[in-house]
Amino acid sequence: METTRLIIWNITLVDVSKLFEGLGDLVGLIRVRQGGRISQESKLVIAICQMKQVFLGTVFFLHRFVCSMLKSMSPRRKKFMLTFVLVVTIGALLVVSLWEGLTVRPYTLSTGKISTKLTIAILSDLHSTVYGENQSVLLKKVKEQKPDLVLLAGDIVDDRRPAEGAIALLKSIATAYPCFYVTGNHEFWSGRADEIKESIRSLGITVLEGRCTDITLKGQQLQICGVDDPDGFTHERFYGEEISARWDEQFERCKKELKKNVFSILLSHRPERVAYYKGSGFDLVVSGHAHGGQIRIPGLIDGLYAPDQGLLPKYTGGVYDLRGTRMVVSRGLSRSFIPRVFNPPELVIMNIEPLQ
Ligand SMILES: [Fe+2]
Repeated sequence: METTRLIIWNITLVDVSKLFEGLGDLVGLIRVRQGGRISQESKLVIAICQMKQVFLGTVFFLHRFVCSMLKSMSPRRKKFMLTFVLVVTIGALLVVSLWEGLTVRPYTLSTGKISTKLTIAILSDLHSTVYGENQSVLLKKVKEQKPDLVLLAGDIVDDRRPAEGAIALLKSIATAYPCFYVTGNHEFWSGRADEIKESIRSLGITVLEGRCTDITLKGQQLQICGVDDPDGFTHERFYGEEISARWDEQFERCKKELKKNVFSILLSHRPERVAYYKGSGFDLVVSGHAHGGQIRIPGLIDGLYAPDQGLLPKYTGGVYDLRGTRMVVSRGLSRSFIPRVFNPPELVIMNIEPLQ
């Protein structure tokens, strides 16, 4: 992704008129930069630039059209027209950027450790948000994806909102799919983490606290491991103890339980703990917490701010390669008074395919 970003920036700096000289030049430019090879990343850049060409062409056409119209107008009418166009443009931009409709975001990864495709639904950072009566909207979206497994990556229950919405969701998915859950920081901030875990457990959902568990799906074995949120160990009852060591202990225990030839997943709410995940032996780490960086600008900023990562965070949403361990970060499902900009709430679908 770093290369892609670099190339996009470089292309942005190229004189706009050059972009109109044709796609051939652009392909040539990328070929030179990448030693004659056209990679997947380059194809993406070409697609973005094609869109850019269409966009610039449309702007150019509209500009000419508006200018010719304005020429024939009185100054008063001209002023009205310009104000109208400005208001409509700003309005449209606001609607598009602040749209918070539920999105399904699919990712695919391949592994030699499975023989039949698996579909995993990842729900993270719901923060007790309600999607329709009894979570019907969210449940419908999950059902449509026909997942083999549901993973709950923390902050499902919020510390300041009523838990009913979250419990309604958990009740329904627990009866339909194998479900695994880990805590996020907000479950601990509520001061009722043990109670929440117990009620989730009572629904038939596996609560992971520094352990791995085996599951067989479509005749193939999988290992699902999970650690509590580190804020669980800064809770007042742990004061005076080696707090960071408690999380490390859980993480190391999961690592020790790994079986080499079985596809393994670690559920851990925190994406910023990449130093632990890199080359850890887990095939996939599932995280959330960053809320997509809250404010995103397509092609420019992958998030303005994320807790525990600060400004311009790096791990806000997507799949990251961490020396053989891949980490998928969900942008989360919460809706709150803080606007999400170009960052709609999402249900992540991870398709795991056998290597061809
Ligand atoms: Fe969180």
